[in-house]
Amino acid sequence: MLEKNPEIDKAAAILRAGGLVAFPTETVYGLGADARNREAIARLYVAKGRPARHPVIVHIADVIQLQQWACDITPVAQKLARAFWPGPLTLVLRRAAGVHDEITGGQDTVGIRVPSHPMARLLLSAFGGGIAAPSANRFGHVSPTTAQHVKQEFGDSVALVLDGGACEVGIESTIVDVTGSSPVLLRPGHISALRIRDATGVSPAMPAAGSPRAPGTLAAHYAPRTPLEIVQAGLMEKRAQELTRDGKRVAILARVSTLRAGTAWIAAPTEAAGYAHDFYANLRTLDAAGCAVILVEGLPDTPQWAAINDRLGRAAVGSQRP
Ligand code: TXA
Ligand code: MG
Repeated sequence: MLEKNPEIDKAAAILRAGGLVAFPTETVYGLGADARNREAIARLYVAKGRPARHPVIVHIADVIQLQQWACDITPVAQKLARAFWPGPLTLVLRRAAGVHDEITGGQDTVGIRVPSHPMARLLLSAFGGGIAAPSANRFGHVSPTTAQHVKQEFGDSVALVLDGGACEVGIESTIVDVTGSSPVLLRPGHISALRIRDATGVSPAMPAAGSPRAPGTLAAHYAPRTPLEIVQAGLMEKRAQELTRDGKRVAILARVSTLRAGTAWIAAPTEAAGYAHDFYANLRTLDAAGCAVILVEGLPDTPQWAAINDRLGRAAVGSQRP
């Protein structure tokens, strides 16, 4: 698996030349650019249709490279890096001298992550430097969890898409601001607040309103093109029938397979990890079903489901934009 891989060498060469490469991580696919190359980062923003001055995560091969990108590495940061890297955790740290404003969105902090996906690790070691990579979707849209999704988002405008299969976690990394003495959870993810507390001895705080800008924390995000409505579990059949009576085609995502209502439906996995793994792919499938609305069964309000509820809530808001 670690022997020479011509696709990886080609991808590293594209990055060195200032081009864009999509690659798998354990969370979602990323659209990568050389994090030291301003023009390459500008290309990333254009490809994604992302508003300027939003910060982007720098992916590195190993914690050893951290000092090239960040300074004032706090004890809490060290504990989290030791506990969860490589893995689905992004740390927001004070930026080191020379880290471009295009990466940090002009802030004095930088988001860093060591991914665990074998193909991401091979790419990072072949390239040698940091890879700036937002999720490989058009701004505000559903994140991609397969190479096919990335191709659907960008067509031929991305030179190379490395195919590493379906992403294991399926939702974006947990983001923790570790610039202060105690951690602040900027984006929930597979690594829960509880695990962060266990690793650091401190429960992470929730961000104050208006604190570090994060597009993934905008109310509208991760959205399919079809309007999405969250429906309380027991009311699904009734709501679907109502809409159907009005002549609307209805797509349903629910954790039960006994529903008869709706034009298209998916029975989602019943436990949180499986649900997250399939979540974005399921939204894409239902989005493509040509329905007037996607009804998604409301999920339990428990810590296990927190990261998924976060994405689902934003998808519902985002899908109602004109
Ligand atoms: O799992 C992930 O994190 C994926 C994979 C590809 O690594 N990446 C990802 O990137 O989700 P993106 O750009 O879609 O979301 C990154 C989030 C954004 O909300 C961004 O604002 C936030 O990270 N972020 C990056 N640097 C930051 C900083 N210095 N301060 C606060 N938030 C930051
Ligand atoms: Mg994203």
